[in-house]
Amino acid sequence: MKIGIPREAAVGQPVVAGSPFNVAALIKLGYEVCVERGAGVFASFSDELYEKMGAQIVGTDEAWAADIVLCFDSPNENHIALMKDGATLIARLNPWADKELPERYAKRGITALALDAVPRISRAQSLDVRSSMANVAGYRAVIEAASHLGRTFGGQVTAAGKVNPSKVYVIGVGVAGLAAIGQASAMGAEVYATDVRSDVADQVVSLGAKFVEIPVKQESTDGYARALDLEEQARVLEVYTKQAAKCDVVITTAQVPGRPAPILLTEEAIAGMKPGSVVVDMGASEFGGNCTLSKHDDIVVTDNDVTIIGYTELYNRLPAQASQLYGQNIVNFIKLCTPEKDGELVLNQEDVVVRGVTVTLGRDIMWPPPPVSVSAVMPEKENVVPAEVAKEEAAAQAKEDSKLKGIWWKVLLAALVVLLMMTAPAEMAGHFFVFALACVVGFYVITNVTHTLHTPLMSVTNAISGIIIVGALLLVGSDNIVVVVLSVIAMAIAAINIFGGFLVTDRMLKMFERSSE
Ligand code: NAI
Repeated sequence: MKIGIPREAAVGQPVVAGSPFNVAALIKLGYEVCVERGAGVFASFSDELYEKMGAQIVGTDEAWAADIVLCFDSPNENHIALMKDGATLIARLNPWADKELPERYAKRGITALALDAVPRISRAQSLDVRSSMANVAGYRAVIEAASHLGRTFGGQVTAAGKVNPSKVYVIGVGVAGLAAIGQASAMGAEVYATDVRSDVADQVVSLGAKFVEIPVKQESTDGYARALDLEEQARVLEVYTKQAAKCDVVITTAQVPGRPAPILLTEEAIAGMKPGSVVVDMGASEFGGNCTLSKHDDIVVTDNDVTIIGYTELYNRLPAQASQLYGQNIVNFIKLCTPEKDGELVLNQEDVVVRGVTVTLGRDIMWPPPPVSVSAVMPEKENVVPAEVAKEEAAAQAKEDSKLKGIWWKVLLAALVVLLMMTAPAEMAGHFFVFALACVVGFYVITNVTHTLHTPLMSVTNAISGIIIVGALLLVGSDNIVVVVLSVIAMAIAAINIFGGFLVTDRMLKMFERSSE
């Protein structure tokens, strides 16, 4: 089958539905690919590069006449008219908003696949264009904030004095929020973050930020939040207002599916912010936003000198990256639907991911798809397939058994030590006591040393091994055969420790050697 990548319909849309590298991947799946002349120009992908990767460069009509047409946004009527009957369209179609859409495509027998309707389940993550775009936009939100803030994000120690890092507060820790936290942390800012879903606190901390607790905690089973009631809303706003007043940048990214963007920053909160602070309202749209003062696709500077950025489609400001990621999402979808890698698209409606994006299948209207149960939490034990439960139970039993075995060994060892102490000559008792104490103290000291300190620890144990060898050499000439045997064993073990240590160190040093090329 032939795939066509036309220029985007909207004037000034810089994102294209596939980079030259995505084209190469589609060709590997057995498809022919044609790209409209100049389609990738705003994303810095030249026609020559597309050609080099195996695409044919064609005119508008030919690109739209392909068997499968890839677009970023919904095409306009003129472009749909250029498509052949029975063709397939893959794009962000926003089928929730456009009620006439299914009818329009079904009439022409066009199979319309809305890639923005991919269900948010872990198996579909690699095809999720909303997440890809939110991720790029989260990064860009930080860059926009940094370019409007009159300070550096990272702290510095300069000849003129110390500069503290800027404080960034991210409200809403979904895909965009996490990307923003990661980028702001990487730029050296002191980052704080909040979400009503308290289970994201670990992710916040793992990105180097601090989680700001709020008086409302939601247990989410599907990765989405529910709307707050008025009383909850008032309590969280108090925290957001206080924290925003301490920060230089606030990035708001909260959303509740199917509801208007929740208000996170009121006029009062903005009035309390420091002059020169910046707010990026990612939730801004023509219907409102997370900040009451933000303006859709515009920048507002308040009387107290707070800059509020309400840009939408921030990913359009990184067209090369957005095109590459979007194109990769499409490649992953097409890979899923090309099981034989023979360039033939197979739309298996039994697959929830394929079913979820199918708006029309030829002349059949398939929208809306049946709901998919999305779960962000581990399945309950009773929902786990029996084989997995059995495996888990067997592992738990094995753990329990080995614990019991360990206890028996300890009891046996203790009995042996007591027996030795009781039967050994009186002068040996003191040595046994020191030996037992050394074992206990040594065990606790060594097991509590962090892994990164194991190499210096090895040098210390080498020194101890050296002392053991000197002691064993002094005793090896004894008349008592037991003492001789023990000395030889002690020397052998200490030698293994010393030479083993050298070998390990040598291997580690080799890991840091530069190759001669
Ligand atoms: P998401 O659903 O992954 O994350 C939203 C987060 O907000 C969730 O973690 C949720 O628990 C949290 N949340 C909901 N209500 C809250 C409240 N009252 N207080 C604190 N946290 C709350 O959504 P995603 O994909 O990260 O997108 C976030 C927002 O960014 C959406 O509004 C989306 O439309 C917008 N967006 C904006 C772009 C732009 O260019 N401006 C581009 C992409 C997305």
